[in-house]
Amino acid sequence: MYLEFISQLGYLIGSVCFVWGLKLLSSPDTARRGNIIAAVGMAAAIIAILLAPMERGDNNFALIAGGLVLGGGLGLFMAYKVKMTGMPQMVSILNGLGGASAVVIATVEMSHYYDGSRPMSDSQLLIPLATLLIGGIAFTGSLLAWWKLEEWINDNALTLPKHNIFNLLLLAVIVALGVWLFIQGPEASFGLAMLFMGLSLLYGFSFVIPIGGADMPVVISLLNSFSGLSAAAAGLIYGNNFMLVGGILVGASGTILTLLMCNAMNRSLLNVLVGGFGGSSGPAKAQQGDLVIREVSLNDAAIQLFYSQSVVFVPGYGLAVAQAQKVVKEVDEILEKNGVDVKYAIHPVAGRMPGHMNVLLAEADVPYPKLLDLEEANDFIANADVAVIIGANDVVNPAAEDDPSSPIYGMPVLQVWKAKHVIVLKRSMRAGYAGIDNMLFFHPRNKMLFGDAKDTLGKLVGELKGL
Ligand code: TAP
Repeated sequence: MYLEFISQLGYLIGSVCFVWGLKLLSSPDTARRGNIIAAVGMAAAIIAILLAPMERGDNNFALIAGGLVLGGGLGLFMAYKVKMTGMPQMVSILNGLGGASAVVIATVEMSHYYDGSRPMSDSQLLIPLATLLIGGIAFTGSLLAWWKLEEWINDNALTLPKHNIFNLLLLAVIVALGVWLFIQGPEASFGLAMLFMGLSLLYGFSFVIPIGGADMPVVISLLNSFSGLSAAAAGLIYGNNFMLVGGILVGASGTILTLLMCNAMNRSLLNVLVGGFGGSSGPAKAQQGDLVIREVSLNDAAIQLFYSQSVVFVPGYGLAVAQAQKVVKEVDEILEKNGVDVKYAIHPVAGRMPGHMNVLLAEADVPYPKLLDLEEANDFIANADVAVIIGANDVVNPAAEDDPSSPIYGMPVLQVWKAKHVIVLKRSMRAGYAGIDNMLFFHPRNKMLFGDAKDTLGKLVGELKGL
């Protein structure tokens, strides 16, 4: 009784910490604290759940401790090892494991249901069935998303002709089998329930296969919400309120994030799931006949920046790859000392995950008020002397505004071509993640400064110090 009370208190503390932590995660200033508070909440819930078997006296602590050490150790190792650019892969793996855990829980409960040791009412039976379906999709979908992001699998390698029709048919078969299992109740068999699980796992793969490279972050966020919902459903199986609250929070925040990303790309979720644009990056395919690529020397770029009144840096995925955030801050400091007004234009989908650029720049202690969101940034750019694009491509592509045939047409972009001068830092003429040409690179006001962003900016610091 006494332990039960402490255990419920632990769940309550865990739930409050999750909600509080999530609230703090909404601002870069408080995000670190939010993460720690959410971790404390998880620790409280783990202690609470360990108290439950003590009460019943049927503990298997050796197994639990083994799982904790193995899982915790692996998690710690991965968190230390993962690079900022590998975050989406890490999130995918964690989503997948969440889905897999829910599937394992539901499988065990279903086996007990069919051998008669765990009676369930009709409505209760719906819960493990939903857990198998949603958790199964989250598991295999996330695995495939991870392999695609690691580029172990080509985006188009496994797509069948009329893939979307195949997916719809498969989903119809799964739903029909689920309804049949529900109607038959204990008269059906565990084998059929496992077939239902197998088809759900297959659907997870098949659902993610046709989705293109640039849309992967949206899919990962959607799978994140699926893994949350499957955890919530697993919480219902055990009547565990903490799992329910945690799962619902993950499910809801994943859904909100998915919709926010779609909005930022000006696309519907259906268009992302069915249409898919882009793929792996490749060389730009523009007919370069009359198009001229203008280059700028390091010295000229340094002079132009040093004697400007306002400069806007536009970071993109390449900044993350080059890890150039600290050196861009050095350039910023030198320019500010010379009276230049320096700002950073942050596109909501720059990089490969939400808030990617904010996190990187916060790491380099760039003051938050210097970061402008899309609308503010476009106002600033219109009056800026120089816009310096650092490893960004799709988010500054004018095709989004002036080429109705472009797959990114309609996506709000940073209108860098409106600045008096534009300098693009990248290594080559290769396309960005959406795999499409960028006419900005041939714009009369644009000059290319080829090379690795960190390397180029480092040399620029040297030039600026010499002025
Ligand atoms: P991208 O369009 O992917 O372009 C990045 C550019 O960085 C590449 O063209 C690459 O050119 C350059 N680059 C790579 N490594 C570099 C290095 N070491 N030094 C200098 N340059 C380097 O990036 P973006 O503009 O940030 O756009 C993000 C894309 O992801 C968009 O298509 C967006 O829709 C998609 N997306 C993002 C999200 C989130 S949440 N962020 C969500 C959904 C979709 P080189 O190879 O020539 O150097």
